Amino acid sequence: MDVIHDLSLWRNRRAGPEFAGRTVGFVPTMGALHRGHVALLERARRENDAVVLSIFVNPTQFNDQQDLANYPRTLAGDLALAEGLADWVLVPTANDMYPDAYRYRVTETALSLEYEGAHRPGHFDGVLTVVLKLLNLVAPHRAYFGEKDWQQLQLVRAMAADFFLPVEIVACPTVRDDDGLALSSRNRRLSPKARAQAAAFPRILREASDAQTAARRLAEAGFSVDYVADHEGSRLAAIRIEGVRLIDHVRL
Ligand code: PAJ
Repeated sequence: MDVIHDLSLWRNRRAGPEFAGRTVGFVPTMGALHRGHVALLERARRENDAVVLSIFVNPTQFNDQQDLANYPRTLAGDLALAEGLADWVLVPTANDMYPDAYRYRVTETALSLEYEGAHRPGHFDGVLTVVLKLLNLVAPHRAYFGEKDWQQLQLVRAMAADFFLPVEIVACPTVRDDDGLALSSRNRRLSPKARAQAAAFPRILREASDAQTAARRLAEAGFSVDYVADHEGSRLAAIRIEGVRLIDHVRL
């Protein structure tokens, strides 16, 4: 496994003989890897000749500077987890990713303003911009995204289609802990008590008859509810507990 920090070195490699005639699967992440990310890497491994992982805590998608500062950075552990699954790990710097200081950006003007976007202004501009940059740098045949971040998945897929990007966006099911809570790097910030309580989040989303009922029951269970919404056969929600923001998606 090759770990590459330098983007010009990477672009030379990508154009070189190592990649000639090989299909490339790509898994973009912000690190703090867990079994959810591993499932994406395993699928990429099965479906492609070569696998590229990126680890980049993208500053432009954080509307809350405290959240950015608190985001876990665990590169050594991430590399250990990715060993054998990824062939190349791209770990760029923010300066290299944003030579224009984010003057140019991708803006979607409908779905990105709803739900998650309504609570995190500018979030999806940051996500779409960095994903477009990464897709251009890695030039994968397939790129893998988790269904937990359902809105992100829809927006990335539509961007790829609308900008005629030569990549297949592959959706991967949400990996959950035994009690049903979706794995997330943010879970590790919960106290044991809040972690136990958090199991009610996906359960209520699955059991409630409509979004309004789910929101009421989540509030009764002690969560601070950002939103619950039913949209095109999916239920999307974000809640906060102990100041930690968790999101989830279940199919109706
Ligand atoms: P990150 O939160 O690190 O997630 C990277 C990928 O892993 C995303 O596609 C996400 O949906 C997927 N993922 C996270 N938890 C999962 C779980 N429990 N089961 C299945 N998949 C899961 O999402 C991002 O990073 C960033 O926004 C990024 C796309 C990298 C752009 O910066």
